[in-house]
Amino acid sequence: MIVCHCNLIQESEIERTIVAMLDDDPWQLIVPLKVYHEMNKRGRCCGCFPNVVDIIIRVTAEYHKRNRTPPAQIESLVVRLSEVNREIEAARRAGARRAAELRAGRRAA
Ligand code: FES
Repeated sequence: MIVCHCNLIQESEIERTIVAMLDDDPWQLIVPLKVYHEMNKRGRCCGCFPNVVDIIIRVTAEYHKRNRTPPAQIESLVVRLSEVNREIEAARRAGARRAAELRAGRRAA
């Protein structure tokens, strides 16, 4: 299934990239931009990022379950991943809103 229509990225490509990143460092906090950087891609419209966050959280939890990480540590990691990704998404949306306001102001002037 295609997750990112701008870059034509399949869900399976994202999953493989996340697993490879976790193999390098199982405790890193992964965000969509890091995943896309690993794939030599970049977010364009970034509309896929909420879905990529869901994939990151699911694949990270599955990875740690396979590696017998204690459930409490998995839960803690998932909470931190969710928080970090929520903060980044809020900042990205605020930046996009500000850019739209600036463009609108330029057009009105
Ligand atoms: S849908 Fe992924 S960057 Fe646009």
